[in-house]
Amino acid sequence: MSSYAEAFRQSVEDPEGFWLEAARAVDWVNTPTRALDGSQAPSFRWFPDGTLNTSFNALDRHVQAGHGDRPALIWDSAMVPAKRTYTYAELLDEVAAFAGVLRDQGVVAGDRVVIYMPMIPEAAIAMLACARIGAVHSVVFGGFAAKELATRIDDARPVLLVTASGGLEPGRTVEYLPMVEQALSLSQTPPHTVIVKNREMIPGSAADYKASVATWFDWDELTADADPAGPVTVAATDPLYILYTSGTTGKPKGVVRDNGGHAVALTWSMRNIYDISPGDVWWTASDVGWVVGHSYIVYGPLLIGATTVMYEGKPVGTPDAGAFWRIINENSVVALFTAPTAIRAVRKADPEAKELENYDISSLRTLFAAGERLDPDTYEWATKVLDRPVVDHWWQTETGWAIAANLRGLDPMPIKAGSPTVPVPGYRVDIVDAEGKPVEAGTEGNIVIALPLPPGTLTGLWQDEDRYRRSYLETFPGYYLTGDSGYVDEDGYVFVLGRSDDVINVAGHRLSTGSMEAVVASHPAVAECAVVGIRDELKGQRPSGYVVLKSGVEIDPETLRQELVAMVREQIGAVATFRDVTVVQALPKTRSGKILRKTMRQIADHEQYTVPSTIEDPSVLEALEQQLRG
Ligand code: COA
Ligand code: AMP
Repeated sequence: MSSYAEAFRQSVEDPEGFWLEAARAVDWVNTPTRALDGSQAPSFRWFPDGTLNTSFNALDRHVQAGHGDRPALIWDSAMVPAKRTYTYAELLDEVAAFAGVLRDQGVVAGDRVVIYMPMIPEAAIAMLACARIGAVHSVVFGGFAAKELATRIDDARPVLLVTASGGLEPGRTVEYLPMVEQALSLSQTPPHTVIVKNREMIPGSAADYKASVATWFDWDELTADADPAGPVTVAATDPLYILYTSGTTGKPKGVVRDNGGHAVALTWSMRNIYDISPGDVWWTASDVGWVVGHSYIVYGPLLIGATTVMYEGKPVGTPDAGAFWRIINENSVVALFTAPTAIRAVRKADPEAKELENYDISSLRTLFAAGERLDPDTYEWATKVLDRPVVDHWWQTETGWAIAANLRGLDPMPIKAGSPTVPVPGYRVDIVDAEGKPVEAGTEGNIVIALPLPPGTLTGLWQDEDRYRRSYLETFPGYYLTGDSGYVDEDGYVFVLGRSDDVINVAGHRLSTGSMEAVVASHPAVAECAVVGIRDELKGQRPSGYVVLKSGVEIDPETLRQELVAMVREQIGAVATFRDVTVVQALPKTRSGKILRKTMRQIADHEQYTVPSTIEDPSVLEALEQQLRG
């Protein structure tokens, strides 16, 4: 095992050498001779003269190396319930067939394909099929409603959309096709083709949409007689996917990931961060709609020839709090990666972890957590009941893989509760104050990363270089702005305390309060509003809305609440879990009219706060405190 300190030092002192060496673990068509192209700084490109195909690396090469019979993907649905295992040879066949379908539908390299699917194998197959022909996929999380889907369609301008008749949520089915049809009609640039994977238990099929603006096809019919497509060679710098994530405004940011840097970074991470080897069974309990699902349900484990588990279900209630332990037991999972909120849900349902007695989880070496801070209480509980390392690591959609972690494949370091440990090789993390000056150890500030970021991180925002630079690169020149605040302690451990912007994190889902405010403000009774993320025992945060009524309007607060809840659900999606509405007399603002959201959150969370010197009218804050704290 080599040392973390040595790997970090090399990555900083000789990034060319470090990443060219890491690149040797990937199969290239043209092996790169250079690692970094800094000619467009502060934007960077990795492996500028390399060419490859990501699906070849995830599938073909393992089959060619004689591992075709090894399980590649184990799908376990606690919802149907059902289970299916695909070997590498089988998954390759499915991917090549669907890639042939896409090609026959006229999709060519560089075209965008939107994937709006539940947690079924076809979601991963569609992603890998896009990668195979050089098309750029953009997966939209199934919990988003039609309007959010339309917004992403209008930005990505896909030629084709892949979906399924629907998803299964506890106690209900989520019918996707009416939402897709609505999104197409809302969209300025709808795709010309829709392909539907029919799930028998959920009504709706392609045949129901003959009058649509797009032509609809059935997945099974098209794949039945498709000629398989081979891997198309692309430049390492070509886009592999766009993944939309919440920014501070209602307009999501289209994070662009390349092919080469992504393959190198994820391959490196599987071995060095997660200590996973070919053939190991690895399980990420997330959703393909999020970056965690992209990197560690689909690409990471397949790139190294491991077995990935794809789970359709919840940590609790499907059917009970033993669901996670059952899957580990049945599949001999060596590492589980999930969100702290899922651990809290299991703990709430089964505080003594009695369900563990029903299963053999001896295969499990490590529990990884990310998506939100692993709070010390949850960390202690999980460590106690599992008696194994519980490893927090910190990253974001933009970076695509961990910024800070306890690197289990190098020399693991002592864990400090509440910290994701140390910066990962390639990431030069700094803490700076509002003026951009580095602060002393232990002092809280903005967490930034010195440029260039390592391979695998975003290459920009989809067709919006200007927003990319404004959002991430211009605040502190020379640095990438993470949007998180925190500190680094004397031992070099990073502590991430929360967002410094208006992005909130609900059950590990990143959401924009701005988009919720836009919905709430469109209610005819609402003059103005603010949505802030307040503390929630289970989900970490939850959105809480504060509304000022138009003068003269009289409306029962509960009626208003119900209407606003329905509007947010209809326009953003159930995943927003918007339930709290409080009618207030006025919103506290600065003299320049900016709503003091942070102060409002502190009041709602019963935290100490200082009255900002820029406040317009302190009496508004006093009235709010009186109303919320009594
Ligand atoms: N499609 C459609 N609807 C979805 C959905 C999807 N893919 N995912 C969630 N929803 C809906 C849920 O059905 C629920 O709807 P409801 O209001 O009708 O009940 C709503 O969105 C909120 O869902 P969820 O956040 O899952 O909350 P929950 O109360 O049902 O479950 C947890 C709570 C903690 C069990 C759950 O949030 C969880 O498993 N979290 C882990 C999240 C995670 O893995 N995040 C990935 C980041 S690494
Ligand atoms: P997302 O882009 O959806 O992955 O969300 C990224 C954001 O989630 C980060 O900017 C953090 O605010 C938060 N986050 C993710 N993982 C962690 C972690 N391990 N500790 C603290 N915050 C985290």
